[in-house]
Amino acid sequence: MTRRAVLSGTGSALPRTRVSNAELAKRVDTSDEWIVERTGIRFRHIAEPDETTGTLGAAAAKEALKAAGLEPSDIGLIIVATATPDNTFPATATKVQALIGAPDCIAFDVAAVCSGFLYAVSVADSMLRTGAAKHALVIGSETFSRILDWEDRTTCVLFGDGAGAIILSAEEVADEAGAKGRGILATRLHAEGQYCDMLYVDGGPSTTGTVGHVRMQGREVFRHAVTNLASVLGEVLADTGLSAEDVDWVVPHQANRRIIDATAKKLGLPAERVVLTVDQHANTSAASVPLALDLAVRDGRIKRGDLVVLEAMGGGFTWGAAVLRV
Ligand code: UT7
Repeated sequence: MTRRAVLSGTGSALPRTRVSNAELAKRVDTSDEWIVERTGIRFRHIAEPDETTGTLGAAAAKEALKAAGLEPSDIGLIIVATATPDNTFPATATKVQALIGAPDCIAFDVAAVCSGFLYAVSVADSMLRTGAAKHALVIGSETFSRILDWEDRTTCVLFGDGAGAIILSAEEVADEAGAKGRGILATRLHAEGQYCDMLYVDGGPSTTGTVGHVRMQGREVFRHAVTNLASVLGEVLADTGLSAEDVDWVVPHQANRRIIDATAKKLGLPAERVVLTVDQHANTSAASVPLALDLAVRDGRIKRGDLVVLEAMGGGFTWGAAVLRV
């Protein structure tokens, strides 16, 4: 028998307010046509003052607990992937812990921006397999609207707020099940810090003492994204001995429809097997993969036994992918 981290529940939460491209075009020099054509984005949700990374994360966590049939007291590990924490410290994971009423457990944040959820999944997978906990809440939650420069049309139209959560549970899987058995089969993570100026926030506690705003060289990020994502998907599938034909669903980071299409094409993955939410949610950074995963589980597309591939790329640059049998 091998201990694996198995998906036992998903959940998500979106802010109450939804903003269309046309509404944004009243605030900045842009148009619905430009945004749809260049990105595929039509709407994004924007948090009200009472909605934070912590409250959205907790709402998504509660949904995931319900789906898994678990109580907060069952959770031994909480990881929140975020670049927009409620406070510089403590970790937003401890806030989520308090909001859902989970007693003493391990709780910390992971900062890898848009790849944060993939990093968090990989860390949780390792910790569950080595016996640190039985059930882990892995959350991607962001309120990027708080760090956008609303005068900068090259960035402010691209992002949205939201949260997604999954529960991973340590289970013993028969060795002979191999890649047919449930659980996370492989993860791969990367970072290349020499590109940290391509996508960053121009503030922080140790530099300016301010929160700062998102800055991005979009074209450069786009170019690296397609190359890096196609390559990490190839690596992670090779680790499992599987190929693109074995994949039932790809749940990609939702930054830009053109990046998603180009990556899928490079790997020969048909568009019908890719879960798309970028039109409805825009780029919710670390929340985008778990949000899309929850949507596709709840609408019945992703079913028990399916082979699902997750991937993301973001500031750092950081990028990663995971293969799991649901
Ligand atoms: O999650 C982290 C990863 N982030 C990403 O993956 C983002 C990656 N990058 C992208 O998605 C794309 O590069 C963008 C959507 C950001 C930009 O698309 P693009 O096709 O690369 O456009 P561009 O930056 O080359 O800009 C083309 C034109 C420029 O005008 P000129 O210089 O050709 O006259 C921009 O000023 O579009 C202009 N532009 C806009 N026009 C209307 C830029 N933003 C806007 C806008 N509305 N919001």
